[in-house]
Amino acid sequence: MTHIEKNRQNADPLNFFWFIPTSGDGSYLGSLERQRPANFDYFKEIAQAADRLGYQGVLLPTGQGCEDSWITAAGLATVTEKLKFLVALRPGVTSPAYAARQTAALDRLSKGRLLLNVVVGGNPVELAGDGVFLAHDKRYEQAGEFLHIWRGLLAGHEVDFHGKHYRVEKGRINFPPVQQPHPPLYFGGSSEAAQDLAAETVELYLTWGEPVEQVAEKIEAVRKRANDRGRKVRFGLRIHLIVRETEDAAWAEAERLISKVSDEDIAKAQKRFLEQHDSVGQRRMAELHGGKRDRLIVGPNLWAGIGLLRPGAGTALVGDASTVAKRLHEYQSLGIDTVIASGYPHLEEAYTVSELLFPELGLSASGQHDLDPVGEFPASVEQRKLAVSTS
Ligand SMILES: Cc1cc2nc3c(=O)[nH]c(=O)nc-3n(C[C@H](O)[C@H](O)[C@H](O)COP(=O)(O)O)c2cc1C
Repeated sequence: MTHIEKNRQNADPLNFFWFIPTSGDGSYLGSLERQRPANFDYFKEIAQAADRLGYQGVLLPTGQGCEDSWITAAGLATVTEKLKFLVALRPGVTSPAYAARQTAALDRLSKGRLLLNVVVGGNPVELAGDGVFLAHDKRYEQAGEFLHIWRGLLAGHEVDFHGKHYRVEKGRINFPPVQQPHPPLYFGGSSEAAQDLAAETVELYLTWGEPVEQVAEKIEAVRKRANDRGRKVRFGLRIHLIVRETEDAAWAEAERLISKVSDEDIAKAQKRFLEQHDSVGQRRMAELHGGKRDRLIVGPNLWAGIGLLRPGAGTALVGDASTVAKRLHEYQSLGIDTVIASGYPHLEEAYTVSELLFPELGLSASGQHDLDPVGEFPASVEQRKLAVSTS
């Protein structure tokens, strides 16, 4: 038995999250064909499917191109039951007191289903549009102060704070969050400043889907920094999935997804990422493939095609369900306990992943258990009779 198989036997099932595509969705990258606009009713379909299918939560991204994640999550919380919402805290963009009040309100409205993703931001052009003009490491310094104030307020303290970036006098919030002392903090960022912030203050450190060895290095570095501070941090992976019944079908789907992307679009997107971003994480993702179509396989079953056009999470695990499960267990053996997955289009792929992959991961696809076996799907009359006679 390999160490991964042994680890799999001992490991708890992964916490499995899905994604709400608040900047729009579609069936092809880089094409207007079969696009779906960002629309609350569509997000509702995805969130309700994810809730019913047994996903534990959903990530809502944040940025100029996204529908607002707080308003969207508030709406979705009222039409779902168990699903958790990973919503962005934006140091520099909102004030700590305003964010603390929003946190308590959404945690109360969702009955304790709020999780926070601390997004410091890695695109100074976009940040300038939001009124943030600090250099990379200063933004992390600001985030540290922001979280200090935010925590104090949510813990019910009256906060007086005089720092480099914020000044607060007699700050308080009247209504406490359901989750005490505050909803869990998740966070992603690959730079040293980001790793220090993670070590000091967050519960779960997120990484994009880099090859296993590179993720191992980052986890080790964050774990060490946290140990030095007497803390423990959990780890999560943000990645796309293309899971099909066979390897061939999965790779054909990956090719199809980028079949309408032009070389010009790739060159433009890569230039923009390089010129606009000062994010170490974004640079690491771009270097995996260098914008080249013939360098997209960056690890076993790990494909970087999505990163040709999309910033941030740019890789997908591609394969049949048992192979993709094996690959996820490799990440799990490093200490990853949470996976935030997605696939295009997000509604159909939420079903595909739960139907094919969840059984391989030992996760229950909760909607499946109540299915009446005497439905349309027993393929033959004989099977149908059998289903009737044994039910
Ligand atoms: C899982 C994950 C999710 C992220 N989500 C967002 C997001 O929604 N919006 C955004 O602007 N940045 C997002 N980021 C980017 C980070 O906030 C951070 O700005 C970026 O990684 C740059 O930091 P670095 O230089 O430390 O790598 C995300 C990063 C990770 C790892």
